[in-house]
Amino acid sequence: MAETAGRVLEHDHHRIDDRFAAFAASLPEGRIDAAAFHEAADALRHHIYVEEELHFPALRAAGLLAPVLVMLREHGEIWDLLDLISTALADGDDATARASWPPLAHLLEQHNAKEERILYPAGDQMLPAEVADEVIATLTLGVTTPGWTCQLAGREQQ
Ligand SMILES: [Fe+2]
Ligand SMILES: [Fe+2]
Repeated sequence: MAETAGRVLEHDHHRIDDRFAAFAASLPEGRIDAAAFHEAADALRHHIYVEEELHFPALRAAGLLAPVLVMLREHGEIWDLLDLISTALADGDDATARASWPPLAHLLEQHNAKEERILYPAGDQMLPAEVADEVIATLTLGVTTPGWTCQLAGREQQ
């Protein structure tokens, strides 16, 4: 079975989940596994970059405006929690890092399920072959444009 952009993105969810699991497992213990968090967060930021820059524009062009907007809003909330936990870990504020993980885990679970059930299968039907290839290649390459932030990040602070 040929790899599709949807299957590669779904596999990436699981890879990111595994890294977050190591961070989550360390939370009840004395020392938080910040390295596991940063690895997961970097991978997730790149994943969101590929979705927003390559995958979603093609879905939007094909008419899936509302589902894409819901995903963009959720990316904004996810992005802000990643930043909050990153800052907390850098500041040694373990209480904020611990308290912010359950809402992030909950958001991610809901978000990924919607993408895997709706957006990715739709994308595999609609995406032009060159866009699908670019999604897979860019995700694999793992390089995000420096300074890039997701479209709806930072709305809580506005
Ligand atoms: Fe997403
Ligand atoms: Fe995703």
